[in-house]
Amino acid sequence: MTTMTSQGLEVLFTRQQIADRVAEMGAQITRDLKGERLVMVGVLKGAAPFLADLARAIEADATFDFVATSSYGIGQRSSGAVKLIKDLDEPIEGKNVLVVEDILDTGLTLAYLRKHFLQQHPKSLRIAALLDKPSRRIEKIEADYVGFSIPNQFVIGYGMDYAERYRNLPDICILGPEHPE
Ligand code: IMP
Ligand code: MG
Repeated sequence: MTTMTSQGLEVLFTRQQIADRVAEMGAQITRDLKGERLVMVGVLKGAAPFLADLARAIEADATFDFVATSSYGIGQRSSGAVKLIKDLDEPIEGKNVLVVEDILDTGLTLAYLRKHFLQQHPKSLRIAALLDKPSRRIEKIEADYVGFSIPNQFVIGYGMDYAERYRNLPDICILGPEHPE
């Protein structure tokens, strides 16, 4: 059955489905940490709601940091070149780092960030992506923790935007073809 929001958007994952999956991811990350400390690095802005929920599902001594990238594009298409517009506040050398991203799409952003972070010699570097669109991959990169794998559809809500809109939708919705790219 298709659920629609009051704005007429088709719901792909409800807030309850997201909460259940985030709880499972948090439990898995907690087990893998084996009691060690964690630095959670959110990729602004889209990962903010996911990081906030995931952090509270992880039982560990955790801190937050944030980076921001730009991919030279607005709307649904990007040009491919990634630029770092906000770097980490604290060094990550010797730390267990979890990069928290809303969606792994072409992989250009996370491949760029992974290389950037590895240059600082963290103790470990793992990636948590709420969504994964494997069919769109350009860079060879996988997340260690994936919430949901989805087909090639443009999604919005729970942090994800279309031209900065819809980030505050509590459910993950599909942006229909009536929206131009
Ligand atoms: P990548 O570098 O192509 O893997 O894309 C990463 C970024 O593109 C994500 O962090 C999102 O900000 C954005 N993105 C990719 N697909 C979508 C989508 O379906 N909806 C909203 N943003 C998306
Ligand atoms: Mg993003």
